[in-house]
Amino acid sequence: MRSDTDRLLPPEPVTDLDAHLATGGGTGLTGALALPPDAVIDELEAAGLRGRGGAGFPTATKWRGVRATAADTGSRIDLVANAAEGEPGTYKDRTLLEQQPYAFLEGLCIALHASGAHSAYVGIKEAFTGPLERLTDALDEVREAGWPGAERIAVVTGPDAYLFGEETGMLEVIEGNLPLPRIVKPFEAGLHATTSAPNPTIVNNVETLSHVARILANGSDWFREAGTSDSPGTMVFTVVGDVANPGVYELSLGTPLRTLLEDVAGGDDIKVVYSGVSTAVITPDLLDTPLCFDRMSEAGVGLGSGGFIVYDSSRSIVDVLHVLMNFLAVESCGQCNACKLGTGAMAAILARIQRGEAEQTDLETLLKRSHTVTDQNRCYLPVGAQLMVGSTVERFVDEFVATVERGEPTPADLPTPLVEHIDEDTGAVTFPSRYHLKQTDWSYADVDPRAQRLDAIRDD
Ligand SMILES: Cc1cc2nc3c(=O)[nH]c(=O)nc-3n(C[C@H](O)[C@H](O)[C@H](O)COP(=O)(O)O)c2cc1C
Ligand code: SF4
Repeated sequence: MRSDTDRLLPPEPVTDLDAHLATGGGTGLTGALALPPDAVIDELEAAGLRGRGGAGFPTATKWRGVRATAADTGSRIDLVANAAEGEPGTYKDRTLLEQQPYAFLEGLCIALHASGAHSAYVGIKEAFTGPLERLTDALDEVREAGWPGAERIAVVTGPDAYLFGEETGMLEVIEGNLPLPRIVKPFEAGLHATTSAPNPTIVNNVETLSHVARILANGSDWFREAGTSDSPGTMVFTVVGDVANPGVYELSLGTPLRTLLEDVAGGDDIKVVYSGVSTAVITPDLLDTPLCFDRMSEAGVGLGSGGFIVYDSSRSIVDVLHVLMNFLAVESCGQCNACKLGTGAMAAILARIQRGEAEQTDLETLLKRSHTVTDQNRCYLPVGAQLMVGSTVERFVDEFVATVERGEPTPADLPTPLVEHIDEDTGAVTFPSRYHLKQTDWSYADVDPRAQRLDAIRDD
């Protein structure tokens, strides 16, 4: 769906650089290059741009902080554009890369200028063949056109792992390692950091950088014409699951969640919604909450990266929570015991409830595990597990208790809602057909290992 609020999603895919320039593209970069770096960051601050990768962190604050650390330590700055798009329910970054890669590259060149970064890396999954090809073609074009900074941009491909999208996991992959999160944040110690040269690194999401280009082209007042005072601008949302029109939609921040899920995506009889797997469950009583960072968090939920997974009342809450928890159990890297063991134990309990083999004490253990799963966590992954499990069990305690009491198998047929592809014309959504074979060591089994594997993990 295209509408007046579209600012990033073009009416038609932009197929070459000339087409981008013909619709006013390139003016953001030209304008930015005419300004000193601090003035570019001032404009982003005035616009109130907040990161679209999940946390909603103010972009200007991030860039200023990294510049200050680099100045204090006399070290270089690097830039990373996060195109890993690994959050279940999300497909907007690939859509932007396929339909309008030039706005993203323009934002990246502006970021290179404003931050004074030495190099920029785009971290993208090797499996994203379509967006990857579109990105590299567009990068060749802007290099040839002589866009300042474009020659310092490298594309780095990474694995099909959730933690590749976690910012320090991405730094590890760029350095040639597995995506195992670090303790120290990128703005403190970044790529190729040493004790004498911390090389603070800016990590920004694809959509965030695409907004940067538009803000520099049109000004902060224009950006604030959409959105709310704390969450200005538009956001590119994804909706998948039990809706008539799954897809990628750009709306003003502040639009009620109900408008997106029901009026736009055609959701009906909604039972639960998850914004990725890093936030608390959204129940129908919260559908009038405005889609903005602060109001969502005041409501006890989160906007995340704007990818909504919708389940209607035909779904068993046990099946829903199990498929999401299994994803976190598989994707946890195991550097922190409480996270790997806790996510695995919670997924195992949910699998047991699904098979009709659980006891009421399992529910208590599930909640206990949700409290301890974050102990000594390096990254945010187990916080998502804690929020999801705690909130879902609390809101659906009667259904959980009744399911355990019945002691009969319940449906176990939901796919892991990692979006592989959304067909723009038909709205058909593809999920990875082999995800259920992925094991906790990230290898793939020949036959479904879930039941045996998860049962083997002790739950206490
Ligand atoms: C487990 C995990 C997975 C993440 N995956 C992604 C991802 O796929 N894409 C993304 O942009 N950010 C992801 N993030 C957030 C990044 O760590 C980082 O905050 C973000 O890229 C910053 O960009 P922004 O300030 O522009 O939002 C993830 C975070 C966590 C904890
Ligand atoms: S908290 Fe979990 S996912 Fe994050 S580093 Fe530790 S074990 Fe890995």
